[in-house]
Amino acid sequence: MMDMLTIAMPKGRIFIEAAELLRKAGYQLPPEFDDSRKLILDVPEEGIRFILAKPMDVVTYVEHGVADLGIAGKDVMLEEERDVYEVLDLKISACYLAVAGLPGAKFQEVAPKVATKYPNVASSYFRQQGEQVEIIKLNGSIELAPMIGLADRIVDIVSTGQTLRENGLVEYERIVDITSRLIVNPVSYRMKDVQIDEMVERLSTIIEKGR
Ligand code: PRP
Repeated sequence: MMDMLTIAMPKGRIFIEAAELLRKAGYQLPPEFDDSRKLILDVPEEGIRFILAKPMDVVTYVEHGVADLGIAGKDVMLEEERDVYEVLDLKISACYLAVAGLPGAKFQEVAPKVATKYPNVASSYFRQQGEQVEIIKLNGSIELAPMIGLADRIVDIVSTGQTLRENGLVEYERIVDITSRLIVNPVSYRMKDVQIDEMVERLSTIIEKGR
C-alpha cells in the first residue's frame, strides 16, 4: 500500500489556481474542495490529504514534516531561509514584489520608513541600493501605510495593480518576479520519493504544455 501524501495548501487566491493545476494533472478533487471551510481535506481515492494554511505558514508545516509537500509563493521562500526543497516552479499566481508609495512623494533622505510584510527582502533590497531605511513590519493592508503617514514607501506584492490604483499609489521600482513553487520536506523526499516524483512528473508535464 502506498503512503498517504500530505500537502499544505495556501488559503486564498493561490488555492484556486493550485487546485486547477492539480485537476489538469489528473488528480480527482471533489467539487466541494473549492469552497469548503474545512482545514483538512482528505481525498482517499488519490491517497492525498490537503491541509489549508495561511500562505506564510505553508513552509512551516513542510519544514516540520507534518506536511510532505506544500505550495508556497516565491515571496515566502525569499523572506526566510527554510529547510525545505523547492522542486518545481508551478508558474501559477504570477505577481511581483515592488516598491510603491504616494505619487511625487520624495523619499526622505534621513531614515525613510518602509512598511512591508517582507522585512528581510525589503532590508536586503535597500541595502543593495545603498539606502538606509527604517523597516516597519505589517501583516496586511500594507497600502494603508503611506496613505495615513505611517511610511514613506511600501514593499509589497503587485498582481493586477488594482490595490495600488484604487488607493492612489504608484509603483516606484520592481524588485523581483514571483510565482508559486512546489516545496518538499527533505525526509519525506527520501521516504516517499516514488509518489513525490510521480506528482512532480505529472505537474511538470502540464506546466510544460501550458507554456
Ligand atoms: C495582496 C498584496 C496587495 C494585493 C495586490 O494582498 O499584499 O495588497 O494583494 O494585488 P493586486 O495588485 O491584484 O491588487 P492580499 O489581498 O493578499 O491581502 P493583505 O493585504 O492582507 O496582504
